[in-house]
Amino acid sequence: MRLIIHRDYEKASAWAAGYIADRINSYRKDSPFILGLPTGSSPLGIYREFVKMHKDGKLSFKNVHTFNMDEYIGLTEDHPQSYHYFMMDNLFNHIDIDRKHIHILDGMSKEPEKECKLYEEAIAGEGGIELFLGGMGSDGHIAFNEPGSSLNSRTRIKTLTEETKSANARFFEGDPLKVPGTALTVGVGTVMDAREVMIIVNGRAKARALKAVVEEGINHMWTLSCLQMHPKAIIVCDEDATEELKAGTVRYFKDIEKEAIKIHSCSGNQ
Ligand code: GLP
Repeated sequence: MRLIIHRDYEKASAWAAGYIADRINSYRKDSPFILGLPTGSSPLGIYREFVKMHKDGKLSFKNVHTFNMDEYIGLTEDHPQSYHYFMMDNLFNHIDIDRKHIHILDGMSKEPEKECKLYEEAIAGEGGIELFLGGMGSDGHIAFNEPGSSLNSRTRIKTLTEETKSANARFFEGDPLKVPGTALTVGVGTVMDAREVMIIVNGRAKARALKAVVEEGINHMWTLSCLQMHPKAIIVCDEDATEELKAGTVRYFKDIEKEAIKIHSCSGNQ
């Protein structure tokens, strides 16, 4: 695992967006780049950078197909808090992606289990995800894989914890009762199948979870700790998020990144 620490959120977001843009721009031209995407406040800085790079003519999404991580059950696509709406509003409406290459789980599906199965098949049908970008919940969850989720899980229906509903209440007039209680989400196993995983983490509210994920053992109570088993995982974070890490951990990861820059390595130490 690489842990890339930047002074603040803007710098972390710019680095992450630049890294993904390089991966897309240098990808083979004879097949699409399959990109997994999250919602939430964490990726907003990256999406702003993507839009800027696209407007500046430095990044095209014509050869990119996307799969989003999750969607609330019971919200229509045009509901302002649905993840469909979020993605159109914050990214897809501002870039040159072909609409038919956007995949987001349908939270209004009458057959949600079938919807989840078809989603897994669609990912496999595209040859798997090349890079899955994600955020992390304050309880260490990835997508909506709440504490206790199987680390082998696939796309399915999940019930949200009270902690997640409280955290996401800020988008629902501050009322946790207005946050849908269930969602469709890719599984931990779905994320782990991606050839590369990048997680953006910022702020003190995530510090306790980041410590568990980076310094403690692999544990289904902090589902993002699965990254310790991934051959190509990067966590990009700001300094606030490292507040609970040991000084030695921070120093170690900063040191190896300095070495990675020196040897012009893109993959770094894992
Ligand atoms: C939700 C999403 C996750 C996201 C998390 C953190 O639970 N399902 O994908 O990572 O929120 O959100 P934020 O980035 O707003 O802190």
